[in-house]
Amino acid sequence: MDQIISKEQKPLDVLVLAAGLGTRMRSDLAKVLHQIDGRPLVNHVCRTATALAPRKIYVVIGHQGEDVKQAVLEEIDEEHSEFVWQKKQLGTGDAVNAAREFLENEDSTLLVLSGDVPMIRAETLAALVQQHYNHRGRGATCTILSVKLDDPTGYGRIVRDDGGLFDRIVEQKDASEEIKKTKEINSGIYCFNTKKLFAALSNVQNNNSQGEYYLTDVPALLRNMGEDISLYQHSDAREVSGINNRVELADLERIFSRRTISRMMLDYGVTFIDPKHAYISEQASIGRDTVIYPNVSIEGESIIGDGCTIRAGVRISNSRVGHGVTILDNCVITDSEISNSCTVGPFAHLRGRAKMEEKSKVGNFVELKKTILGRESKANHLTYLGDATVGEKTNIGAGTITCNYDGKNKNATEIGNNVKIGSDTMLIAPLKVGDGAVTAAGSVVTRDVPADSLVAGVPAQIKKNLRAEAEKEENKSSEANREQ
Ligand code: UD1
Ligand code: CA
Repeated sequence: MDQIISKEQKPLDVLVLAAGLGTRMRSDLAKVLHQIDGRPLVNHVCRTATALAPRKIYVVIGHQGEDVKQAVLEEIDEEHSEFVWQKKQLGTGDAVNAAREFLENEDSTLLVLSGDVPMIRAETLAALVQQHYNHRGRGATCTILSVKLDDPTGYGRIVRDDGGLFDRIVEQKDASEEIKKTKEINSGIYCFNTKKLFAALSNVQNNNSQGEYYLTDVPALLRNMGEDISLYQHSDAREVSGINNRVELADLERIFSRRTISRMMLDYGVTFIDPKHAYISEQASIGRDTVIYPNVSIEGESIIGDGCTIRAGVRISNSRVGHGVTILDNCVITDSEISNSCTVGPFAHLRGRAKMEEKSKVGNFVELKKTILGRESKANHLTYLGDATVGEKTNIGAGTITCNYDGKNKNATEIGNNVKIGSDTMLIAPLKVGDGAVTAAGSVVTRDVPADSLVAGVPAQIKKNLRAEAEKEENKSSEANREQ
């Protein structure tokens, strides 16, 4: 992105306004912490700003400032960020003023963004900055990103003079009926010559209907000082939609999700049976020819392979799914991994780094927590496997439970290859079950089971050695053969 903005220019800093409560959300949570696509609004803005490779991102915080700071630090590193406290929320002009000590003497360009305008794209911001530098061949002092809206209600209006040049911004609450008819609005996104911004900001008054210090007064003040103000009119209004209430939040969530789903269909070749009722995170990726049924949510950084079938009502969060996997209806899969050609569900729950190896199978009402289910192994019905490792080609019978919690500690269960765990077996961890062992139905296994042995009972006792038995059988039949 940085090559779009020519290098000879002043350094670029970004200031994100994120101190307001957002009264219209009617929420105990600061507005910028409300989420779209599972990430706080302010994080979307900061991530987009990062794409411009600015020198630093300043974030003005106030309401739940510590929480906002922690959220933002998930997105950008400490080295490239500075948090500025605005103690009282006296308006957007006052919010910018909070950063005065850091910025007023900087010979830089300042891109001001709103923490509640999350859909803005980096390409648009780059074009805005570029116009700011190129305006009339010498650059502008302030460049405002505007759009035209059929319904401009609520936004500040851009008033132009008779020559079509910028005159001033008038807030909705201060606008006359005449000005309210203006369709061109202020997106709340601007580029400034940093020094001149702070010089003009000192003259902003709060004698308006809201008694606030408006940042929107600065461009007119600069203009009256003879500075050049440029308007960058953008065509995609949705990008600059601000979120002020929950209806707008839901609208943008839907737009966001649709955008992701369209991209998955067009660029990745994913089939959606009902695209309107699927919820796919922008951060997720889904492979070719995978089919997604209605009401599926794929959240976070999930990766789904090619040729999978994901049936209705499945939620997959921060998980990895290989190729050719079938996930039947109503499964919940979080922080887990499913390898190629596995089958899951219906009604299965995988969590806490559960891992299914290739061609393994988990059936209905089975829960896997922090468990590895080996290649071609099966747990088909009504089972809980927690803190367990299961080898290859092992069958876990219906109703099996690893009793992993003794009231204090979580204990591990290790089950080998080719094991048959009989229905309704209780495996009291810590416990090892050797390769080729069998537990009879209803066993309560309290001690390690050696390889190739059959245990049964409550508590389970070793009944026989299966290998010795098998060898005996074999000898018998070969003797019989010889006698014939
Ligand atoms: C603002 C603009 C308006 C524009 C609209 C675009 C002003 C006065 N008005 O109005 O012209 O059309 O954005 O979305 O700037 N904030 C602070 N501290 C404060 C007040 C606000 O940090 O004291 C932050 C908020 O958290 C928010 C942003 O600034 O992220 C914008 O504030 P908001 O109150 O939503 O302004 P709008 O009424 O939407
Ligand atoms: Ca707003």
